Amino acid sequence: MREHVKSPWQEALPELLEQSRALSAQGKVADYIPQLALAPQHALGISIIDKDGRVTSAGDAGLSFTMQSISKVFTLILALMDHGERIFDKVGMEPTGDNFKSMLKLELVEPGKPFNPMINAGAIVISSLIRGDTPELKFERILQFIRRLAGDPSITYNHDVFLSESETANRNRSLAYFLKDNRILEGDVEQHLEVYFKHCAIEVNCEHVARMALIMACDGVDPATGEQLIPRLYVQIAKTFMVTCGMYNASGEFAIKVGLPAKSGVSGSIMAIRPGVAGICVVGPALNEKGNSLAGVHLLERLSQTYDWSMF
Ligand code: DON
Repeated sequence: MREHVKSPWQEALPELLEQSRALSAQGKVADYIPQLALAPQHALGISIIDKDGRVTSAGDAGLSFTMQSISKVFTLILALMDHGERIFDKVGMEPTGDNFKSMLKLELVEPGKPFNPMINAGAIVISSLIRGDTPELKFERILQFIRRLAGDPSITYNHDVFLSESETANRNRSLAYFLKDNRILEGDVEQHLEVYFKHCAIEVNCEHVARMALIMACDGVDPATGEQLIPRLYVQIAKTFMVTCGMYNASGEFAIKVGLPAKSGVSGSIMAIRPGVAGICVVGPALNEKGNSLAGVHLLERLSQTYDWSMF
């Protein structure tokens, strides 16, 4: 631990953050899940944790938010740990260029499997593959995995957000029943959706997610203990999906402007990885038209340009 040594961006971070926060007025908080509409439009927070354990946070880093699509990275990893690369019989490896809820390509391409595990259709299939005899046991395994990576055994899911999504999820329900008809999803569709909605509703803050990202930045090893928590190959696969599909149909632009593997969630959160160096999480609930945090993306762009963070 070298907490006493300042990170290069520690001084400049609060000012950069305030400049990006101004953009939140132009974004829109997600409201298709009614509970998410309660999030503070102008909040913006960031945590960066490097492999020496230095935590640099600014703005509303203490804000609690639900992981939403960021959880898809970790269900993908858990499914890989459960089944290996056989999961790719059920879900593809290609970006769609469509929005995260799109049904379009499920009917266009044989055999009707989702293009990748980051879009909703793919993540619902991945949820169904998590080992466990009941939805409760599957979700419990996901939650334990997240708690372990985030280093906080008290993490749980937000029941109100879970119910709010479950009661209004016409689009996800139709995707899931379509996948059942395509014989990609097997078993009880409602039970698979329950697991999916619950892992999307896992409640965290920026430091939790930055810690999970740090473990991925260190190829699956917790730098504090030296313990390998995720096999290196599965981190590599997940990071590649983050680059190609993590920001949905804005992944190409994000790769050019920021140049880091990243995953967004409609709660306005973004997890980003500086390979070998640090884990990063920003939260800013006001979204752009692609469903990514408007101010959060802007802040990551500024940081990447200022400190030369791009891995490309
Ligand atoms: O299934 C949904 O629509 C949400 N639970 C998660 C979507 C999401 O976070 C997309 N991210 N930008």
